[in-house]
Amino acid sequence: MSRIAYVDGRYLAHRRASIHVEDRGFQFADGVYEVIAVIGGRRFDEPRHLDRLERSLGEIDMPMPMTRSALGCVMDEVVRRNRVGDGILYLQVTRGSAPRDHAWRDGSKPMVVMTARRQLPPPSELFENGAAVITTRDQRWRRNDVKSVALLANVLGKQEAKRAGVYETWMVDDAGYITEGTSTNAWIVVGGRIVTRPLGPEILGGITRAAVLDVARDLQIAVDERPFSVEDAAAADEAFLTSTTALVLPVTRIDDRVVGTGRPGPVTARLLEDYRRVIAEFAKT
Ligand code: PDD
Repeated sequence: MSRIAYVDGRYLAHRRASIHVEDRGFQFADGVYEVIAVIGGRRFDEPRHLDRLERSLGEIDMPMPMTRSALGCVMDEVVRRNRVGDGILYLQVTRGSAPRDHAWRDGSKPMVVMTARRQLPPPSELFENGAAVITTRDQRWRRNDVKSVALLANVLGKQEAKRAGVYETWMVDDAGYITEGTSTNAWIVVGGRIVTRPLGPEILGGITRAAVLDVARDLQIAVDERPFSVEDAAAADEAFLTSTTALVLPVTRIDDRVVGTGRPGPVTARLLEDYRRVIAEFAKT
């Protein structure tokens, strides 16, 4: 089946879809993006993703490129044309193309690109046995709450994970605290309480993070939103990571250290089970 991409008002064959060489996303990473889970052909947690998109755009001085309902129509069409049942929708908005100049021209026309593809969650073996992560210095800019397409540090971090044969790299700030993974949020469990870094410019406000906090509240699991160090993580009872694509994935190794018993722990299991229940309910409605 041939894939279709949406590029600036047109639906194009994916392999021919392209943008101008002077697109500011290409030249300066001057743009933001979202990755939305598609479940049974429908977009999961879309309002939260669009809220985050609008916020990211606002932080870089850009308005929404079209109304939410217009975006919704295009997203419907991209998912439908690509026949995605379960997978992801990728949406990118850049400041459009213009002769190369760091400062932008007022009133420039944004570039909207969307793609969708089928995608399975990580292999069940990882959920059953847990994933390993390594750590590296967080060398990103200071506005990681903006879902910017400038992902070079994340790319380098993920490549380190790939080279080490592990699932993810957790990034560590100059004070020794873990910020987040290269494409996931980081969590630990200490004495039955879940711990994750508070929202702020150091991390992306994950949509799965927000959903897991809701689940924890429903399950009456106590939450501490505070920074934690690599040492705290290695000494924790459990650890896990969250994202649209990884759901709630147990982490059982950090660098050379085993977390807890070395097996996925009970708190992580309950959160995963309940989060999967929320997804299953969404699929039924
Ligand atoms: N990544 N932190 C970073 C740096 C991320 O890039 C992501 C998402 C997350 C988790 O956010 P969410 O729960 O909204 O997916 C945290 C997406 C999936 C990506 O870049 O592919």
